[in-house]
Parts: sequence; C-alpha cells; structure tokens
Amino acid sequence: MIVLGIESSCDETAAALVRDGREMMSSVISSQIEIHKRFGGVVPELASREHLDKIVPVVEEAFERARVGKEEIDGIAVTAGPGLVGSLLVGVSYAKAMAFALSLPLVGVNHIEGHIYSVVFENPPVEYPAMALIVSGGHTNLFLVPEPGKYRVVARTRDDAAGEAFDKVAKLLGLGYPGGPIIERLAREGDPRSVRFSVPRMGDGRPDFSFSGLKTAVSKHVRETNLHPVVGDEAPSQEIKDLAASFQSVVVRSLTGTMERLAGEYRPRTLIVAGGVACNNALREASREAATRLGVPVYFPSPHLSTDNAAMIAAAGTVKLQAGERADLDLNADVSLRLQNVDVEDDALRRSRVRYRL
Ligand code: KG4
Ligand code: ZN
Repeated sequence: MIVLGIESSCDETAAALVRDGREMMSSVISSQIEIHKRFGGVVPELASREHLDKIVPVVEEAFERARVGKEEIDGIAVTAGPGLVGSLLVGVSYAKAMAFALSLPLVGVNHIEGHIYSVVFENPPVEYPAMALIVSGGHTNLFLVPEPGKYRVVARTRDDAAGEAFDKVAKLLGLGYPGGPIIERLAREGDPRSVRFSVPRMGDGRPDFSFSGLKTAVSKHVRETNLHPVVGDEAPSQEIKDLAASFQSVVVRSLTGTMERLAGEYRPRTLIVAGGVACNNALREASREAATRLGVPVYFPSPHLSTDNAAMIAAAGTVKLQAGERADLDLNADVSLRLQNVDVEDDALRRSRVRYRL
C-alpha cells in the first residue's frame, strides 16, 4: 500500500510517499525558517501564503523522487490539526481536491500522532503499551499508548511548550531563531551547574510540565547579573554558554525525570521521544539513561524525521486507512484537535499484558 502524506500545519510544507507504513520512498520538506527568522517566530499570514506557493511543487517532487505515478498510490493522509488554521487549510484543501480528482481514499491525521509514528522508519517495531514524549515548538505531552491508535495524556505542559521555551530563551539572549539548535551548540561549551534553576513542579501535585517560570528565571538572572545579550555577529560570552547549558539541563531533567517516574508506574514496553526538541542530544542521552534504568528500549526519529515532515503523517495515515477509516470531502482543519481518546483505569493499564505490534 503506497500512501501520500501531506503536512502543512506550521511552517514546513511537506509531502512524502510511504510504502506499507514503514518504507520511506520519498520525503520532501520545504522549510520557511528563512522567512520567519527576522521576526523571531512564525508569522501565520506569511506561513499560509508560502504554503500556497510551495504545495504543488513539493507534492510533485515527492512523486518524482519516489519514481511513482499518481495512479500507483492507494490513499492520501493529510494533517488535519492541531496547527495554524491558514496553514492547515492549504494542505487539507489540496489533499481533498487530489483525493476527489483521483478517486482515492483520504484520512485526516492528528499532527501529534504523526510525531509518534515518526519512529517507525528506523527502529524495530514498537511494542505496546508504549509511552511517548512529544516535544516540539507547539507541544509538550507525555502519552501512554496502550495499543496502536489509543492515546491517553499522562502529563502535559501547563504553559509554554519545551521548544517554545528554547526559542524564547534564545531570543532573550540575542541568539536567533529557532533557538533549540543554537542553545544546544552553546551548551556544549558551557557548565550546566553554573546557574542553579530548579525543576518546576505543580502545586497541585500533578506530574505536568511548566516552562514559562523557567524563562522568567532566565530573564531575572540576565538582569541581576547584568549579562549582555549577543548583538549581531558577536561571539557569545562564556556566561551566555553557561546559562544556555544550565537552562538546557533543567529542561532535560524536567522532561526525562517525569517520563522515568511515570514509566516506572505504567510499565510501558517501549519509550518514544519525538518532535523537534528530540533532535537535542542532551535529551537523547538522558532518555537513553532513563530507558536503561527502566530496562526498556527508547526509540527516536533521526533528526530529519524529528522536525515536521510528511513521512510521519503518511505512516500514521496508513494504519488508519488499513483499519478502514475514511474522511469525507467535508474534512476540515481543526486548530485544536486533541489526541486523547482513552481514559482507561490506571490499574487496568498497569496490569495490561496484551502485546501488539505495528
Ligand atoms: O516539531 P517541530 O519542527 O515543529 C513543531 O511542531 O513545533 O519543532 C520545532 C521546535 C523549535 O522550537 C526548535 O527550537 C526545537 O524544535 N528544536 C530543538 C532542537 N532542534 C529543534 N530544541 C532543542 N534542541 C535542539 N537541537
Ligand atoms: Zn510538529
């Protein structure tokens, strides 16, 4: 089964062809980073216009690279949400038009579910129950996945997403956009113990994440120590590198600490760490250490599959198409599409011994 995936939820226009849900035949990504860079974040209006310009050539290129004709595909999967409405609509409208013109089955995919499926290409099959930490610029959620297609949020951010925190702190320090890769690079030359930030905890005892207080703590530290943000092409000072390392270290500890604690409770058979922030090597290392202590494997997507792409959408869509799911031509973009469709009793989940394979 060959499925065309289309992704346009934020600032990447992407198309991919995937065979049988696991074999990537092509994956084309047109990034808008250069356009949004000077604004320090994604400008929705510019993003949707750029998607309109790019969607046709990106889909064409996906077919060319895979050496597949349009008549050879079996279905289309498109990101239906969550994301920016103007951006999502470009992909959804294009996918509907193509499905109608070629009489092909169509499914809408939740973008976050797509991130979870980004690990299927380069890892052994996921064993269930699984636990998935999805960390990107827009989302920070820890899911329990009792079986394919079933999701329960066990921890989420109460405010900023982890990637958003990296981006905001980078902006504060004059480091440019997107902040994650820049902070990671500087952190390698900094001392993570130089500034003591504490891991944010919820007053109500829930295991949720919070990153906005951390951003405020960084900003306070900058003010109190008279730290000068980087201006233009200036080389970052050692203090900036130390601050980057300390900030990164507390974000990583918060994410992996919660994942390890909840994995200890729910006993998943596989850990998945995906989304743009999963490119971060300090996060990968700490996740591997946690997985070793738990005695389970942890799967990451390679960097080009960690950030937004359409191969993950095609992979998630294949499972839905194979299960007989179909979207009508009234499929619409849903900016706040949720991915929580099970609310199983904790004990039942802990006792779960059922084994599924993707
Ligand atoms: O998944 P993604 O491409 O888009 C969203 O769905 O949001 O994630 C982009 C986010 C940005 O906030 C970026 O700063 C962050 O992922 N990111 C990183 C790294 N690479 C990208 N954060 C930390 N370390 C990295 N190496
Ligand atoms: Zn994403």
